[in-house]
Amino acid sequence: MRGSILSLVVAAAICSLSSTQVQAQAPDPNTIAPSQDPTRTANGLAMTPPMGWNSWNKFGCDVNERVVRHVADAMVNSGMRDAGYVYVVIDDCWQGPRDADGFITVDPVRFPSGMKALADYVHSKGLKFGLYSDAGRMTCAGRPGSQGHEYQDAITYARWGVDYLKYDWCYSGVRNAEEAYALMADALRSTGRPIVFSMCEWGNNRPWLWASKIGNLWRTTGDIADIWEGKKGNNWGVLNLADMNEPLWPYAGPGHWNDPDMLEVGNGGMTNIEYRSHFSLWAMMAAPLIAGNDIATMDETTRDILMNTEVIAVNQDAAGVQGRRVRDEGDLEVWVKALAGGARAVLLFNRGPEAANIEVTWDELGYPPSLRANVRDLWAHRDLAPARDRFGASVPSHGVVMLKIGA
Ligand code: GLA
Repeated sequence: MRGSILSLVVAAAICSLSSTQVQAQAPDPNTIAPSQDPTRTANGLAMTPPMGWNSWNKFGCDVNERVVRHVADAMVNSGMRDAGYVYVVIDDCWQGPRDADGFITVDPVRFPSGMKALADYVHSKGLKFGLYSDAGRMTCAGRPGSQGHEYQDAITYARWGVDYLKYDWCYSGVRNAEEAYALMADALRSTGRPIVFSMCEWGNNRPWLWASKIGNLWRTTGDIADIWEGKKGNNWGVLNLADMNEPLWPYAGPGHWNDPDMLEVGNGGMTNIEYRSHFSLWAMMAAPLIAGNDIATMDETTRDILMNTEVIAVNQDAAGVQGRRVRDEGDLEVWVKALAGGARAVLLFNRGPEAANIEVTWDELGYPPSLRANVRDLWAHRDLAPARDRFGASVPSHGVVMLKIGA
């Protein structure tokens, strides 16, 4: 008996040693195991990347309760809610001053009915409700921040029915980021209400190294601009954000996601081909899909991009693996995301000025060359002819071909 227990212990030790060794090697995108260890998630929420809408990219500080109600209605009528976009998040500029006891109040001009009534309305539509605050004295737009009022604010949010908090980093002075975010996470937890915690310190303090224990998503970059490439003021184009976020793929997994900022799809600054690429890249990177356009007035093309259920399914795949670039030939790239069940999502991506043929090989997918695999085009919504060894397609300038390839 003793001997058999001992041999079990030795066997277990050898097992755990070899699995540690495997994990310590450079991660291979084709074999990386999804992070299923529940102790690595902060609160058991956001087991797939959060999906929803946020007011900032379209409305900035010009947000009010009428806009939010319209958007909530449109989330239902357009089918966005049923496609998975459930969080309706009000970004900066909802706050009024603190009251005599230090509790936060609501801007009475923009939100005359109060936040509880608005949250109730959003909930009545089968949606979830989110707010924004900041770890510093003030928010980026100069409204009161949560510093020194973390528990008071968490209690207020829970009373209103908040389900999601985006927590920014302006005016945070010399605060330690990990401590500041952990403090707010503790405050939220103390309310007993499940609240997704979105950390927004722009990647300044390398949150991917510490934030998975604290919250559910962390910004890895500065703010997005509605442009394809380059910088506009302090904000970055889609290509720049994708390049910053891509190498961080080993840090994402169920409950904890890299966030390269919210979507600009439908806001008018890029072509529809570019918006489709933006959406595909975010889906491949298991990024939060937070729409930033006016849902109430979006056109059909925008709708078709945001509501491509096959691309959304890649983003929401249960394995929670962040896809990565497996080939970089200047303007021509191949990205791969391992899916639960063994298939691969594949992005053939052309950053260049002309259409080009791009091929993916089975070797890049971790498949034997002889494997006869099914190929589905996720934007054309079509099954293509099964293939062996490799698959190639013509990809438009600034465009993608997005595929699911599997046995
Ligand atoms: C920062 C954030 C943005 C937005 C604004 C609001 O810039 O990164 O996403 O929340 O603040 O002021």
